[in-house]
Amino acid sequence: MHGDVYGLMFMMAGYGRPHYTNVIYPFPVDPPRVPSENPTGCYRRDFYIPESWQGYQIALRFEGVDSAFHVWVNGNEVGYSQGSRLPTEFDITRWVRVGMNTLAVRVYQWSDGSYLEDQDMWWLSGIFRDVYLLARPKVHLFDYFVHTQLDEKYKDAVLHIKAVLNNASQQEVSGELEVKLLDAHGCPVIENPFKEEFSISANGQTTLGIEIPVSNPEKWSAESPYLYKLLLAVKDADGRILEVIPSRVGFRSIELKDGNFLVNGVAIKLKGVNRHEHHPDLGRAVPLGAMVQDVILMKRHNINAVRTSHYPDDPRFYDLCDEYGLYVIDEADLECHGFAVLKDWERLSDDPEWEEAYVDRMERMVQRDKNHPCVIMWSLGNESGFGRNHEAMARKAREIDPTRLIHYEGETRLIFDNEEVEPRVADVYSTMYTSVDKMIELGQKTGMKRPHILCEYAHAMGNGPGNLKEYWEVFYTYKRLQGGCVWEWLDHGIRRRTADGKEYFAYGGDFGDQPNDGNFVIDGLLFPDRTPSPGLIEYKKVLEPVKVEAVDLKVGKVRIINRYDFISLDHLALSWNVVADGQVLQGGQLDMPHIKAGESRIVTIPMQMPQTVKPGTDYWLNLHFTLASDTPWAERGYEVAWAQFKLPVESPAPKVHVASMPPVSCEQQGNKLLILGADFELVFDRVRGVIQSWIYQGMDMLVKGPRMNFWRAPTDNDVHEAVMWRKAGLDRMQHRIDSVEFKACDKNVVQVKVTSRIAPPVYDWGILCEYIYNIYGSGDVVVEVHGVPQGKLPDTLPRIGLQMALPACMDAVSWYGRGPGESYCDSKEANRFGVYSRKVDDLYTPYVRPQENGNRTDVRWVSFTNSRGMGLLAVGMPQMEFSAHWFTTQDLDAASHTYELTRRDFITVNLDYRQHGLGSASCGPGQLPQYRLLPHEFNFSLRLRPFSKDAISPVELAKQVIEG
Ligand code: GAL
Ligand code: MG
Repeated sequence: MHGDVYGLMFMMAGYGRPHYTNVIYPFPVDPPRVPSENPTGCYRRDFYIPESWQGYQIALRFEGVDSAFHVWVNGNEVGYSQGSRLPTEFDITRWVRVGMNTLAVRVYQWSDGSYLEDQDMWWLSGIFRDVYLLARPKVHLFDYFVHTQLDEKYKDAVLHIKAVLNNASQQEVSGELEVKLLDAHGCPVIENPFKEEFSISANGQTTLGIEIPVSNPEKWSAESPYLYKLLLAVKDADGRILEVIPSRVGFRSIELKDGNFLVNGVAIKLKGVNRHEHHPDLGRAVPLGAMVQDVILMKRHNINAVRTSHYPDDPRFYDLCDEYGLYVIDEADLECHGFAVLKDWERLSDDPEWEEAYVDRMERMVQRDKNHPCVIMWSLGNESGFGRNHEAMARKAREIDPTRLIHYEGETRLIFDNEEVEPRVADVYSTMYTSVDKMIELGQKTGMKRPHILCEYAHAMGNGPGNLKEYWEVFYTYKRLQGGCVWEWLDHGIRRRTADGKEYFAYGGDFGDQPNDGNFVIDGLLFPDRTPSPGLIEYKKVLEPVKVEAVDLKVGKVRIINRYDFISLDHLALSWNVVADGQVLQGGQLDMPHIKAGESRIVTIPMQMPQTVKPGTDYWLNLHFTLASDTPWAERGYEVAWAQFKLPVESPAPKVHVASMPPVSCEQQGNKLLILGADFELVFDRVRGVIQSWIYQGMDMLVKGPRMNFWRAPTDNDVHEAVMWRKAGLDRMQHRIDSVEFKACDKNVVQVKVTSRIAPPVYDWGILCEYIYNIYGSGDVVVEVHGVPQGKLPDTLPRIGLQMALPACMDAVSWYGRGPGESYCDSKEANRFGVYSRKVDDLYTPYVRPQENGNRTDVRWVSFTNSRGMGLLAVGMPQMEFSAHWFTTQDLDAASHTYELTRRDFITVNLDYRQHGLGSASCGPGQLPQYRLLPHEFNFSLRLRPFSKDAISPVELAKQVIEG
């Protein structure tokens, strides 16, 4: 049924409905019993058995059925199975006949297995992975286990093969197993094929052990995933080949040594993600193409590890990880989190009656995946407390496969606060969402026998996560800390359309599924359609395998550090340029020096310091490390890492003297203040204390004048703080105007001073704000705001800044600052300084649940231009953050799905002095102290300036400094 199965999750096809819960069971808890109303999917199809299969043993294999099923072939009941993410094989030889046959499968949503499948994801049932037939000769290789043993120098190897042969015939047979090892080009590695004779009694089984020494094979690692090919040929007594089973072999070792886990002798860092299987249209029936896309995206974003949270994945996924190079923590299909709510987390995990069910899930996973070099650890499942059944699982895993390490976060959770206790089962300490500070504390522990990893960290729900950089600084500082996996890879949104055809992604509750956990299922680095989110771009930057430090920029000296664990930087090309005002001034290619893993070299970039320096201009040196040739995951030229340095150039800004400006006049007309310059007319509203209109060369510059704003549409990571913010009334602040005064300072400047108290209803705290507008004859308006908190303010503020509205026609945005992507103070590493141009449309990030988005940080200036080249420039003094949207903050705040947003006929612009960081408090620590926006007395200025096409460009206007 290969290829047909997609959409066979019956809830995705309109039978029953998807239901999302994170922790709780959506049915009464009374194990092992389940509801009698049990959604059931009945499947039936015909299949053809060719004549040539006569005499073969025929197996029917299911790779994944959720959660339990019965199978009939030609009306005969063949069997039953459960364990949703595990394979089942039925021997159907006696039930099938040559020609057409009928297969019927009945799938039940609930079974006692459901108690062990309480992972944080949609409840979805059906046949969601491949179903196929296997024809094997009567004498066949039933199973094999290959592992590679490296010597103490991690150089030479022994290939261990354990082969189990079955004889399904009625007489004793003898024959030979022939083993060939080929390199990646198909050339034999061992001169003569290895041969081992066997003889097996009728209906019997035999096990052969083969050891093949291989001198200095290429080693497999995520960075250099070299795969050999192993051919296992079963021959009969006459030397005829009965079957050949191909397998791929990666020579690598994994061990625990001196307090670290080592791959090929190296204490690697896991640059990981947690991946669930999800597809926006097909549920957990993920097509191969989407798996390939995931793996390629991971490789392109410098990710080297995946935890298959929280169950074994489609078997093809491991082939891809072997091939492209990703370390895998393979996790058993086991979670009974719902018992935590009942304060009885160990109920099943410690109950001997459930031991067999637990061990079965472990055993079937290990048996299925044991030959994949990518798998470095077996995980006993997730969030199931810790009990005797976990110990039994670990025992079984070690018995089958003593070569890999055991992971289980649940055990660390139990012993975490008691340093004397050593884990009984797990080889590594593993925690979730541990703060940076705590990681430092853990990193400093000496004499520990085991390293520490974060199986989950940096909750990537909605906009975020923040402070990835700090985690990686700490991981690189302490050898004990071996990285971690971001939670999580992909948003599990389900694609839907509104009645009028607007596409959106649904989450918990959108299907009438009660009770549910809403959009907690939307917490990935990828949007549901697998578009990278800004969080993923940030992760890529933080994980970069090349780090560059300035040594002496004046002479182009930098230190290049190779942060790979195994490979040199020889596969990268290095190019550089010097850029000012968005113009490339110099640049070139450089031979990449040979730098081994973990080493560094000082390199001189052959650049010249700018000879003639333009006043007020920044000069940037950019380095790009790109792929020197094509790889399976990206083409030559793909940028893997980059660095940027501001050159130490003195270039005082150009000055504009007030005296040389045209005159301005100011006159009071009722409630208005009319300020006239050569090119403009600016009207001040004396009642509301804001600019009411600003006409420049006949064109309206503003829809709404700037006013202080402290609110943002809460992000998912703001979830807890937002409760406090709303309670404090930060979303309902009122602006009381206490005075509006003006004076003509001289003939070229008018000053308007507004004092205001901005405060929420109900409470007695507020912020006293004084706005001073200096309106110059040149058309520049410098706004200075001084704010003084009064009374007891909330602990943090979402933002402090000016908000205004611009005419819709001014939607071409250019800025100089970090870009091109969105950034926040604790998530801005991925955005380099430059001059960027985008439409307002492109500045919006469509988070599945609308929220604050699209911010740009460290911005020196931003301009908004209409199609005639006229517009408004805003210049930070010296810097600001900005965002521009077709939606108001209130629109974004009120919407819970993207389709609820309607484009306004004006642009909302935020020019912020500061914004609160992102953090990852939706399920983890909040912002680090340095990224928290605390209420404080503030003072900031910015300059607004209309411009037209023929005058000086915004780039040059932005540099000007008004003097006198
Ligand atoms: C973890 C859990 C994950 C997921 C995450 C929150 O505690 O292991 O499955 O629920 O929290 O998104
Ligand atoms: Mg859970």
